[in-house]
Amino acid sequence: MVAFSLNGREVELEVDPETPLLWVLRDHLQLTGTRFGCGMGLCGACTVHLDGAAIRSCSTPLSMVAGRRVTTIEGLGGSHPLQHAWVEHNVPQCGYCQSGQIMSAAALLATNPQPDEESIRQAMSGNLCRCGTYHKVQQAILSAAAVAHWQPAAEDAS
Ligand code: FES
Ligand code: FES
Repeated sequence: MVAFSLNGREVELEVDPETPLLWVLRDHLQLTGTRFGCGMGLCGACTVHLDGAAIRSCSTPLSMVAGRRVTTIEGLGGSHPLQHAWVEHNVPQCGYCQSGQIMSAAALLATNPQPDEESIRQAMSGNLCRCGTYHKVQQAILSAAAVAHWQPAAEDAS
């Protein structure tokens, strides 16, 4: 039995503790907003938060999240300043990488609410986009950072 907090709810699962968190989220909990890209920790499509930090769920065994806080794109609730900025800047193309992009950006703003362009480039360098949305991603992060009353995701702040 592995127990952890997921988007503010306590969950307990009878799943092999070596199962990658990504498959637990998608197959056991039906949270399909987190995407499978490479499965090797190389593309960032599967990014979620563990205790507020961005991690790659494809290469994180379930055992590692026991007793800790996991936040997925569903946990942002749709009203996070980054999600508004994503719409404002019309960021997605095919959309496949975008939940991972937003989760990496949310972890960045939680620790650095006013990042400069270089900080954004570094923080987002592990999130690949085959559609080349990098410039729009950067502009959306700068817009979200400019929101005066920006707060971390509710689930990450708890
Ligand atoms: S699917 Fe996890 S980093 Fe690519
Ligand atoms: S929007 Fe298509 S892969 Fe990023």
